[in-house]
Amino acid sequence: MQYFTTTSKASRRAVDCVIVGIYERGKLGIGAEDVNTASKGALQRLVKSGDIQAQAGSCTVLNGLVGVRAPRIAVVGLGKHGEYSVSKFVAATAAAIGAVSRSKAKSVLNCLTLEPCGNTGVYYLARHTAQSAEEKLYRYTATKSGRSPAASSLRQVGVALSKPGEARKAKLGLTHGGAIGKGVSLARQLGNLPANICTPSYLARTAQKLAREHRNLQTRVLGEAEMKRLGMHSLLSVGNGSDQASKLIVMQYKGTTRKKPVVLVGKGVTFDTGGISLKPGAGMDEMKFDMCGAASVIGTMATIAKLQLPVNLNVVVPAVENMPSGRASKPGDIFTSMSGQTVEVLNTDAEGRLILCDALTYSRRFKPDTVIDVATLTGACVIALGHHRSGVMSRSQALANQIVAAGEAANDLAWQLPLDEAYGESLKSNFADMANVGGRSAGAITAGCFLARFTDGLNWAHMDIAGTAWATGKQKGASGRPVPLLSEFLLEHCGALP
Ligand code: BES
Ligand code: MN
Ligand code: ZN
Repeated sequence: MQYFTTTSKASRRAVDCVIVGIYERGKLGIGAEDVNTASKGALQRLVKSGDIQAQAGSCTVLNGLVGVRAPRIAVVGLGKHGEYSVSKFVAATAAAIGAVSRSKAKSVLNCLTLEPCGNTGVYYLARHTAQSAEEKLYRYTATKSGRSPAASSLRQVGVALSKPGEARKAKLGLTHGGAIGKGVSLARQLGNLPANICTPSYLARTAQKLAREHRNLQTRVLGEAEMKRLGMHSLLSVGNGSDQASKLIVMQYKGTTRKKPVVLVGKGVTFDTGGISLKPGAGMDEMKFDMCGAASVIGTMATIAKLQLPVNLNVVVPAVENMPSGRASKPGDIFTSMSGQTVEVLNTDAEGRLILCDALTYSRRFKPDTVIDVATLTGACVIALGHHRSGVMSRSQALANQIVAAGEAANDLAWQLPLDEAYGESLKSNFADMANVGGRSAGAITAGCFLARFTDGLNWAHMDIAGTAWATGKQKGASGRPVPLLSEFLLEHCGALP
């Protein structure tokens, strides 16, 4: 995709489509005003006739409006004038680019960037535009036979600016947004692939392939023998029932010298049957998405490496398949983790924390500045926060604040849950240092408390993305979240934001 900025008017630019917006009750946005004047009031008449919807996110494509240079005009609803916000901008832009990508248009100009939008400047508006464009290009076709749906014709995406002085920030936004969109698409693809294709080895190969594309990115894959030598018996116990070999995928990106790295750890359970504590059958197919934490940290790595950001970033992915079998671990089995602490596995379905604890201990060797783990960890988090916000837990309030703020800025929302030591009391075991499950209450938090016992002295946060990593029902599919949030966190961390 090519990106451009322009200060020419919506009606004057020679592109295949321009995007303009209207508010409820017929108020025209800035680009729409210009199109209306150029078309001698035709747009206003169409709005008055009721043919064009103004609710946030609806989109009407007009063809051949006389007086306007572009052959197509995508008119999107912006909702009520007083309630316009960056999330409305994103919804409107996504709807318009979605409609345009289904047409034959090769180039599009987003004029919604002219609209005042709270405190959000042109950098973020341009970034969201490019991210939307990249995301709209993503179509899942890998396992469909027959003719795949026509690829979109869209090649050029531009943003309209009110003054030339905004061009530098807008161009940076377009570059960042394009790279974030690519990271999101990679994460979605890995999430969507079925578990018979996307195995631990497949994730490892994907990480190795990514490393071949960037000279300052390395991938190392540890096999079971090496993990055994390191004492990762908690991690290894989860893969015991599976015929797929467990892997520890370690990616290292060096974008600067002498700075402590940020480490992202992603849960990579390529399929979670629950093990001997078998899950019920209904909807179990969705447990192919149980590696979306891994997908999101690999996707974020792709974004950061593409942008060549001046940051050191390491990604650690424990990749396993959780299956029942004669070799599977059983409720009551006890394993020694790499930290030396012993864990009684009371429920083999609480496997995410068993692989993450060893991956977190492994992360210590990098002497990290910050460690963030990302996991589809608990159904309880879905009950607590639903599907809009990811859960954030940390013993560092400053780090939790940074992550929640990054989510706001990136329009990829998160919400902090508490992590008081007291919640961890339910993990008490009579036979080991701790059990892998607490009671029924506060399940997302007790999972966080379990991980906290392995992160003493680290600047660490945990993200539970069980509710946000994928959609169910008709729209079933991976979301690519929280790649935008993590990318924003890293952009901020290394001072790459304007
Ligand atoms: N991968 C699941 C969590 C999950 C469930 C995510 C449903 C999204 C939707 C995790 O491994 C799991 O099974 N967690 C258990 C923990 C329990 C046994 C303490 C859960 O949430 O039920
Ligand atoms: Mn499970
Ligand atoms: Zn799981």
